[in-house]
This record gives sequence, C-alpha cells and structure tokens, in this order.
Amino acid sequence: MREGIILEATKVKKKFGGFVALNDIDLTIRRGERVGLIGPNGSGKSTLTNCLCGAIKPDGGSVSFAGQTIDGVSAHERARLGIGRSFQLPRPFHSLSLLDNIRVPLKYVVNRRAGHRMSEQDISTRAAELLGKFGLGGKAGRLPRDLTQVEMRKLELARAMATEPTLLVSDEAMAGLSNSEVDEILGLLMALNEEGVAIIFIEHIMRAVMVFSERLVVLVAGQKIADGLPKEVIANKHVVGAYLGE
Ligand SMILES: Nc1ncnc2c1ncn2[C@@H]1O[C@H](COP(=O)(O)OP(=O)(O)O)[C@@H](O)[C@H]1O
Ligand SMILES: [Mg+2]
Repeated sequence: MREGIILEATKVKKKFGGFVALNDIDLTIRRGERVGLIGPNGSGKSTLTNCLCGAIKPDGGSVSFAGQTIDGVSAHERARLGIGRSFQLPRPFHSLSLLDNIRVPLKYVVNRRAGHRMSEQDISTRAAELLGKFGLGGKAGRLPRDLTQVEMRKLELARAMATEPTLLVSDEAMAGLSNSEVDEILGLLMALNEEGVAIIFIEHIMRAVMVFSERLVVLVAGQKIADGLPKEVIANKHVVGAYLGE
C-alpha cells in the first residue's frame, strides 16, 4: 500500500446496457481525508459509490482498500473491512426501533471482526451511545416512520457509523434540509472526521461542499473532469462550463 492511502480505485468502469455510467474513474483517498464529490444529477456519483462499497460490480478497473484488492469482495465484507456508507434514500429497517436499527450493524458487522466480542448488553449500550451522539437519544424506542426528515438523515449516518468505518461515503445526506439542519449534519460529519474517519462527501449544496472539502472531485457524464484543491477546482473553466455554469 502506498503510504497513507486508504482507498485506491483505478480505471473503474460501469455500463448499464450500452450506456457508460462510469468511464475509467481513478480515485485515491488518504486516511482521514475529507473529499467532496460533486457533479450534475446522473453524472455517476452514486454509481461510483456503489462500485466502491460493493453494491454493484464494475465492468472494469480495480478497487483496493487498506492495502488489499477488494474486487469480488461482497458489500457486507467490505463493511467489515471498514467501508461505511449512507444511502441517498435512507434505508432503515422500517419495522425495527431506532435502537435495533443500530444494534444490527454492531452485531453483524462490528462484532464479526476479529477480536470483537460485545455481549448483547454491550451492543445495546453502544447503540444507545451512538443514537445520543447523533441527537436521537430521546427516540431510541421509536420507529423510523416517527422521524422528521433531518432525524432520518441522522439515523442513516448513525447506521453507517455503527459499522465503525475508517472510510465513510456520505451520499447526499443534506438533500431537502434547511440551512440550520445542513449545519447540524456538517457538524456531525466534521466530528466524525476529527475521530479519524476519511469521508467522501457527495453533495449539491456548494456552501457545504466548500466548507467541508479538503479536496474536490468532479464527475460529469461518467468522466472525472477535475480533482484538486476546492478553490482551484471551482475556478477551473472546464468545471464552470460543464457543471457550475450549467
Ligand atoms: N441500475 C441502473 N440501471 C440503469 N441505469 C442506471 C442504474 N443506476 C444508475 N443508472 C444511470 O446511470 C447514470 C448515473 O446515475 P447515478 O450514479 O445515480 O448519478 P448521480 O448519483 O451522480 O446522480 C444515470 O444516467 C442513471 O440513470
Ligand atoms: Mg446520486
């Protein structure tokens, strides 16, 4: 593994029928790094996420994580290796309480790592702590349908963080939120990053992207058109023409 690199994707390609959704995408993420991933709707951001997390199989290229190639490794096993994700459309277990929603990843992801032996009681304690950290402590016994939109976003992030990832891919965790709610989610993500979690931050709200990102990657129509310092990337005329200026 190259020093300090947690994830390295090389020439990742994905086609849906004859449509090229990702065209030879290279992406490198360093340990603890905050990388913004932007691009118009349909540019391939979620498809790339799915290829990194193992939800779909790329048609070409390779992904390595923490020094090992993970091509052909299942999504569940990738979660165990330390890749966490939150979905653009939250995917809680609708029939389970919030506490149980967090217990599931603790039990089936964290506790199945070598050396992890939490008891049922430990798992419940840890789940309650996590809900508290995400401001959902008062709703531990409630069902996902009882949540507001911002609370649902927090639950989705808490579920991802319950897997104790070293890399979190946050796919549009702020869509539809008010300015103050956006700031709340930003604060949560920054706090997770301060604990050492690398974060790929997919977002359309440019204010949030510019505050959060140490590096900015731009996808347009399945191509990576820029990758660099945020201020330089948003001043790049190709980016302005293809995305920001649209
Ligand atoms: N399962 C699928 N089958 C067919 N086309 C898909 C599928 N998933 C995504 N696409 C297409 O791939 C392109 C990229 O989609 P997506 O990755 O969701 O974009 P983004 O997240 O950047 O909005 C879009 O044109 C979308 O319609
Ligand atoms: Mg998407």
